[in-house]
Amino acid sequence: MCSGTEPGAEPAATPETAAPVPVIRVLTLFPDMVRAVLATSIPGRAERQGQVRYEVTDIRDFAVDKHGSVDDTAYGGGAGMIMMAPPVVEAVEKVRGRDDATVILTTPQGETFSEELTLELLADLQAKGELVLVCGRYKGIDERARELVVTREVSIGDYVLSGGELPALVVVDAIVRRLPGVLHDEDSAANDSFTADRDGGLDCAWYTKPPVYRGLAVPEVLMSGHHANIEKWRRLQAAERTRQRRPELAPPEPQGGRVPRQDRNRRQQ
Ligand SMILES: C[S@@+](CC[C@H](N)C(=O)[O-])C[C@H]1O[C@@H](n2cnc3c(N)ncnc32)[C@H](O)[C@@H]1O
Repeated sequence: MCSGTEPGAEPAATPETAAPVPVIRVLTLFPDMVRAVLATSIPGRAERQGQVRYEVTDIRDFAVDKHGSVDDTAYGGGAGMIMMAPPVVEAVEKVRGRDDATVILTTPQGETFSEELTLELLADLQAKGELVLVCGRYKGIDERARELVVTREVSIGDYVLSGGELPALVVVDAIVRRLPGVLHDEDSAANDSFTADRDGGLDCAWYTKPPVYRGLAVPEVLMSGHHANIEKWRRLQAAERTRQRRPELAPPEPQGGRVPRQDRNRRQQ
């Protein structure tokens, strides 16, 4: 366990509010890999601040024999090993805190992960107080484990990775950074790409010091201190980017027109 608590234990309460801390449980054959990422950067800060708790369980602890076996050859033959149903099913049943917990299997055959699904799973975590993620390996898990304990299947894209740990970490990071209070102003998610603030489109371009770098100047409007103009420029810029890069996400042409040409081609002579 990351937090040192027992699997399946009731969520701990924060001293100030007595509200239960939501817990994300990750079941994997590579617990060290998962723990390392969950202890780092924003996911790590979220746990240290008491906004979430992680429980990482080694599926091998539920092996079917004293040799630690968790996989076997496929019935019907064929190359590759299959994760056996008993270790996966028994691990999920042991660690989940409630029978109706959402149990997500990471699989390239699942629904594609998105902003919409992030918010749905965030709401689920807040409502039930827990979320369980199962990381597949080898050719995947025995179909009966999926039938018995999995309630949702999530893919992070149309490609195949060696294991479900990176997909599970993608899902956890996306959810945890949206928990209230996790992000500070400097890493605010409010107007990131795909948010309602961006009408589901892409974020605008951002600049910091120096004002000119290798002949490329920061657009003048951003140095003007005129907040309304800056906000208008950012909205137009984000809309233009969305039209150029992801036309399928673009809202109808805005009333104010496109980004002024001088701000699109601003290389200093
Ligand atoms: C080598 S893959 C198995 C692929 C499976 N035989 C298939 O073709 O659908 C091993 C594990 O990696 C994870 N995985 C691989 N690609 C993934 C993706 N795009 N999204 C989510 N999980 C993925 C899953 O947990 C999967 O069980």
